Amino acid sequence: MSEEKSFVDTTIHVDVKDYYGNVLKKSEDLNSNACVTPAKPIPAFIRQALKKVHPKVTERYYGCGLVVPECLEGCRILDLGSGSGRDCYMLSQLVGENGHVTGIDMTEHQLEVAKEYVDYHMQEFGYKKPNVNFVQGYIEALTEAGLEKNSFDIIISNCVVNLSPDKKQVLAEAYRVLKDGGELYFSDVYSSGRLTEEIKNHKVLWGECLGGALWWKDLLRLAEEVGFSPPRLVTATVISVDNKELEDVLGDFKFVSATYRLFKVPKSSAESCQVIYNGTISGVEDSFEFDCHYTFKAEDVVEVDGEVASILTLSRFAEDFTFQPTGGPRGSCGVKPKAGSVDPFELALQLEKKSPSSATGGCCSTQSAACCK
Ligand SMILES: C[S@@+](CC[C@H](N)C(=O)[O-])C[C@H]1O[C@@H](n2cnc3c(N)ncnc32)[C@H](O)[C@@H]1O
Repeated sequence: MSEEKSFVDTTIHVDVKDYYGNVLKKSEDLNSNACVTPAKPIPAFIRQALKKVHPKVTERYYGCGLVVPECLEGCRILDLGSGSGRDCYMLSQLVGENGHVTGIDMTEHQLEVAKEYVDYHMQEFGYKKPNVNFVQGYIEALTEAGLEKNSFDIIISNCVVNLSPDKKQVLAEAYRVLKDGGELYFSDVYSSGRLTEEIKNHKVLWGECLGGALWWKDLLRLAEEVGFSPPRLVTATVISVDNKELEDVLGDFKFVSATYRLFKVPKSSAESCQVIYNGTISGVEDSFEFDCHYTFKAEDVVEVDGEVASILTLSRFAEDFTFQPTGGPRGSCGVKPKAGSVDPFELALQLEKKSPSSATGGCCSTQSAACCK
């Protein structure tokens, strides 16, 4: 999409482009503790994939979570705000040569870095033809950027939606380009309440992914308005700002990095039912951590609420589960409450207690989908 015809190029877009294109040169240039070292060991297969990403790409990584949903082989993935492309190149390996990853970003300099290393990575992965491409455009205008409706299995995003001045439009566009049954799996920064105008107008805070953070409850509302299934909270990590000047402006507001999964499935009228995970998803054969409520151990019978039943039946996970009515022959465990309604700040504290070493995990924590069970 050309700069001239953009209908969303607000002052915020101009400032954010400047921040990520000119002000920041590498992860360490951030002014807050928004980007910190991994809090928890990441699964070996993901570590391996990350190792193969070119250091020049990794150097400009500014993400806030680990955006690796399960069951990726052969999938078409879109990365909103792909930056220098680290997650795209990691996922390119996990979808395999027959899958595809598209990254979209509005900042030229970030895209230049991402594009420069396409050939390098394809050679490194041994692919005959590239399974990654990068598009310049706005996440509020995906179809205008040339992305087709109903064409992606999964959309991921890592610390980007907070930077948009119009989060509802971002969710609506994501919904539009996802296939039916598709999933938006994304990590972002959330605040403990609706932020003040002073905070929202602070350029550095906005650029640092704090000033534009949604109050987490607003995500639940916006997702529903757009048509997504209620967000399922996967994991959350407390962000410590560690910058006195910025903390003074932020006052009592707190921030977490949280990962949610939203599905493009019809509003659920499904009954709760029992599901048995068949152990067929690579990388998580023994145990599939779906969200902070549900971990599916292979061959165990788990009773799920209607919403999860509907997601599992209508998404790419359908073939990995056996479904049976409640009270089926193999016993049951009680139905858990909805994950979306869990306060991510509470979850972050619970996780911190369980594993104190994760306390410093901030925006860039590469913590995996570890959750309350
Ligand atoms: C915090 S960085 C994260 C980049 C990447 N996801 C990563 O993990 O390294 C935010 C990125 O989002 C891009 N971005 C922010 N707002 C955008 C928008 N409205 N449309 C497209 N890209 C946007 C910026 O250009 C920047 O590259």
